Formats: sequence, structure tokens, C-alpha cells
Amino acid sequence: MNPVNHMAIIMDGNGRWGLKHRNSRNLGHKEGLKSVEMVMRYCIKKRIKFLTLYAFSTENWKRPLKERNYLFNLLEIYLKEKLEKINNEKIRIKIIGEKNFSKGLNKLLDFAEKKTIKNTKLQINLALNYGSKKELIYAFNKLKKRKGVTENDVNKSLYTKNIPDPEILVRTGNTQRLSNFLLWQIAYTEIFFEKKLWPDFKREDLNKIMKKFSKVKRNFGKI
Ligand code: FPP
Repeated sequence: MNPVNHMAIIMDGNGRWGLKHRNSRNLGHKEGLKSVEMVMRYCIKKRIKFLTLYAFSTENWKRPLKERNYLFNLLEIYLKEKLEKINNEKIRIKIIGEKNFSKGLNKLLDFAEKKTIKNTKLQINLALNYGSKKELIYAFNKLKKRKGVTENDVNKSLYTKNIPDPEILVRTGNTQRLSNFLLWQIAYTEIFFEKKLWPDFKREDLNKIMKKFSKVKRNFGKI
């Protein structure tokens, strides 16, 4: 049995889901929040301690302003409504990426991080304005005056400092690429590409992934 301590997810397919059902990409994002809640519950139940969600990439700034604002607004409303409950459930919120949103949202994200910092039931790493290449450049700049840089030095200089590497990466939405997500951290992660769009992704799908993962022989280069 392979233990799962950290699951990372590229939640792809919201836009297509929304277009298919109501001709509105934004509706897909709203529906996608239900899958976020499902996956949070799932991790708690299965005692998975870290959940990393790719919510907004450095490349997503290329989307129309209306969609970007919708996403930021959705996040703001969600946090304002649910932060108390999240905190009571002993969930920690950590942002990975650079907070350069509106003053209001930046403040709310800081507040959510500080308020939940001591919680240990589940840590949700919300990747916001996150790009793996940007993260690596950030780390290299921190280390540029150091000699004999080790793997551990890099680990400690990333946004994901103190977060173990994920055992599982899931990408929904029937697309097989990594989209600049956790490139360093997933060196030995098992990757599961799912056909379903993110809002259609259900607990049974996670069960199937966990079952497949439990049967994988993880060699880490050995035989
Ligand atoms: C990718 O689907 C999804 C996103 C860029 C946003 C993910 C956001 C959520 C699931 C909801 C908000 C999250 C939180 C935590 C409040 P896409 O839009 O690229 O889909 P497409 O490939 O069909 O266009």
C-alpha cells in the first residue's frame, strides 16, 4: 500500500463545462467550486495532509478581464463565507504564487493564511498567480550568492518550502500537459490524466485513482 500524504490537482475543464451546459464559461468556474469542496472532504476522510489546487496560473492573466474578475470574485466570496468553517475544521490555507491581486483580495488571502496557520488537519495550498518557472527563478535568485547549492537548498527556497512533494498529481479535462505546475516537485509523482471536466469529477473518480495508485510499484530509480 502506497501512502498518500499530498495530492495535487490541475482543475481543468471548467470553461468547457460551463459552455456546454449554459453557454457561460464563468458558470463552469462556479460549478468547479463544488468539486473543490468534494476533494477537500475526501482528503480529510482519507487523512491526506496536503492538497495543492491550481486555481490561477501566471499564464491565466491572458484571459479576458471579465473572466479574471469573475474568478477573483468567486474566491473572495468563498473565503468570506467559508473561512470560519474552514478554520473550525482545522484546515490550513497556504497560498503558493505571488499575491498581486486587488488590495482587498491580497489582504483577505493574508488574513486567511494567518488565521489558519496553526491548523494541522489538512493543508490546502492554493496556487494563485502561480507558475513553476517563476517559482524556480525566485528560488535561483535567493540562492545566487550561495556555493554548492544542494537539492535541499532548492526545496527550501521554493514557495512550497516545508511541503512534501506530491505522491499524486491529477489533471482533469482530457488534456495531457503540465501547464507550468510544480515542475520541480513532481519529479517522482504518479500522474493521472482524467477525461472528465473538473465540475464532473466525483468522489468515485478519486477512489479509482487511489486504487490505481495503491497498485503502482514506486521504484524511485531502483529495480
Ligand atoms: C481551469 O479550467 C480552471 C481554472 C483556471 C480555474 C479554477 C478555479 C476553480 C475550480 C474555482 C475557484 C477556486 C477556488 C479555490 C475558489 P479552464 O477554465 O481552463 O477550462 P477549459 O479548459 O475548459 O477552458
